[in-house]
Amino acid sequence: MMQGRFISLEGMDGAGKSTHLAWLADYLRDCGIDFVMTREPGGTPLAETLRALLLQQDMTAETETLLMFAARREHVVSVIEPALQRGQWVISDRFADASFAYQGGGRGMPFAMLEALEEFTVKSCKPDLTLLFDVPWEVSRQRLHAGRQQNGAVQLDRFEQEAQSFFDRVREAYHTRAQQSQGRMQVIDAARSVAEIQQDLRVLMDRFCA
Ligand code: TYD
Repeated sequence: MMQGRFISLEGMDGAGKSTHLAWLADYLRDCGIDFVMTREPGGTPLAETLRALLLQQDMTAETETLLMFAARREHVVSVIEPALQRGQWVISDRFADASFAYQGGGRGMPFAMLEALEEFTVKSCKPDLTLLFDVPWEVSRQRLHAGRQQNGAVQLDRFEQEAQSFFDRVREAYHTRAQQSQGRMQVIDAARSVAEIQQDLRVLMDRFCA
């Protein structure tokens, strides 16, 4: 049987991933492609429990890093690899690049350590294509606040509460990772209108699916 293909979506909080994820699902459905939609941290009952801790509990950067990769290991073994082996495509809202951006860039964890953890937990299960939705901090912040207005108060998780300098480092680490990815990561200027972005996405996906 044909092995499925693995696509991940990345970007800063508020980059518009959710909107584009919905577009991508419609696109794949129109193409008649059987796919599984999942997310990180999360995707399995244990990994979702870890997600709740990661988003709300204070912890050291080292603990955060290990829990991210622990959740990822569960996700790879129980969801991603079985789906790919069944011939389904996998669309993941974030994957290992997020750890290089947030724990590496944001928290300052050494890239060599992250590479070792990636090798230990992910092995060869790497995305075939990664869409990186790239926006400046000001744009992502504005969208985040607009999307989270609840009873006049903005509910932000542990990462979203970080300062601009944290997100500037996250963005820079994503760019570094994209430069090293040999074309796997496609950087999309996500500060534009949804229509413009989706035009680019269509071209990109038509080429990827051909
Ligand atoms: P996300 O699903 O984008 O949050 P939301 O549901 O609010 O849109 O991601 C949750 C947070 O986890 C996000 O702030 C980034 C962070 N994260 C890391 O720091 N490292 C990782 O490896 C992953 C997968 C996520």
